[in-house]
Amino acid sequence: MSNEKATLSVGGKTIELPVYSGTEGPDVIDVRSLVQEGFFTYDPGYVSTASCESKITYIDGANGVLLHRGYPIEQLAQHADYLEVCYLLVHGELPTEEENERFRNTVNNHTMIHDQMSHFFNGFRRDAHPMAIMVGVVGALSAFYHDTMDLTCEQEREIAAFRLIAKMPTIAAMCYKYSMGQPFMYPRNDLSYAENFLHMMFAVPCEEYKVNPVLAKAMDRIFILHADHEQNASTSTVRLSGSTGANPFAVIASGIAALWGPAHGGANEAVLNMLNEIGDESRVEECVARAKDKNDPFRLMGFGHRVYKNFDPRAKVMRETAHEVLTELGLQDDPLLRIAQRLEQIALEDDYFIERKLYPNVDFYSGIILKAIGIPTSMFTVIFAMSRTIGWFAHWNEMVSGNYRIGRPRQLYTGYSPRDYPKKK
Ligand code: CMC
Repeated sequence: MSNEKATLSVGGKTIELPVYSGTEGPDVIDVRSLVQEGFFTYDPGYVSTASCESKITYIDGANGVLLHRGYPIEQLAQHADYLEVCYLLVHGELPTEEENERFRNTVNNHTMIHDQMSHFFNGFRRDAHPMAIMVGVVGALSAFYHDTMDLTCEQEREIAAFRLIAKMPTIAAMCYKYSMGQPFMYPRNDLSYAENFLHMMFAVPCEEYKVNPVLAKAMDRIFILHADHEQNASTSTVRLSGSTGANPFAVIASGIAALWGPAHGGANEAVLNMLNEIGDESRVEECVARAKDKNDPFRLMGFGHRVYKNFDPRAKVMRETAHEVLTELGLQDDPLLRIAQRLEQIALEDDYFIERKLYPNVDFYSGIILKAIGIPTSMFTVIFAMSRTIGWFAHWNEMVSGNYRIGRPRQLYTGYSPRDYPKKK
């Protein structure tokens, strides 16, 4: 906290407001006392609002910086694996070798879901969107784990974290298998987290499936790069729903629902749909012109970011990984991927995108990688949700282990003033 005060003159009053400094980032003005002075602040879309104090993730959008617990995302993507990042996000420090092993073993002990849960899937239509299934099934975890719902107990919260980290890939892969009409594959605890996910997605009981190490590494990178991203829409949803005292599984389900939209986690699916719609390299210019036309609501999916007004550091890593995967699979000439490359090239050179600082974001490249691996578009956001679960959990855990109040924003009311109900004849 600094000694500085901000002064606000309004309605004939002068109000002094405390100013706080974080370890990084802009100072914040504490406006909490304004309500006693008869004012609310107005910030639709929360562009200038810090909704909480947090020690987990820092983003400097102007300089393309993303840190988890102080570590740059590029270094984590290069040196750590997803489970280490999970440990870091929740515990605040990287694990020692011993802690790392214990953490992995415990995750492995929770990879199966309650057998009764597999019956849920039969209640869904085969053509249901896997996100619709996931929201339901993850919310239903709270019907199975009554033993870990005491929010005040650190140990119970930790068990809930293990259950979520371990079961999300199993549930995600089951969503896919159900849509394909294939039998569910049980998890294999001798495989790494990413290998096991690919196994549950693509193996079938009637033949051996060998996990390609390049694809497993790419998958692990996708998990790391999506693990957390500060107070975005879904994380803020998780904090808000968690602030009511809801259980962790219900809270994570609320995050999944918020992530689903095309302006957030649904963007990677929207990128592929857009590339399919463009259909041919010769139509890329036409599509860029539409994106620039103010009378056309069309936007280039996978471009732009609310916070990054510079290259998204995750997109840089993802771009490299995309090249590794395409080379490994011999897909450099895939028509859809050629459209993507042309789009990227034009947008990076076009004044409209340069002036507005609209760079390709993480979803632009992750969509390309997932498609190359053979994952259907409808599963893209599911994979984002499963990776982000640990970030949501870490934020929820940070909130409930400290002092928190129920989240309750106010409004600028512009409806009718009081009026009488019309007399009936
Ligand atoms: N294509 C064309 N124009 C765009 C785009 C785009 N993708 N994104 C922003 N703009 C324009 C927008 O029209 C506006 O122009 P002007 O100043 O002339 O009115 C200007 O850029 C600023 O846009 P904004 O809507 O004020 O920006 P925002 O911060 O509210 O929105 C965004 C950020 C990510 C929702 C938006 O860029 C977008 O819709 N992008 C496409 C969807 C997408 O890729 N989303 C994934 C985000 S990354 C994953 C995640 O973290 O969830």
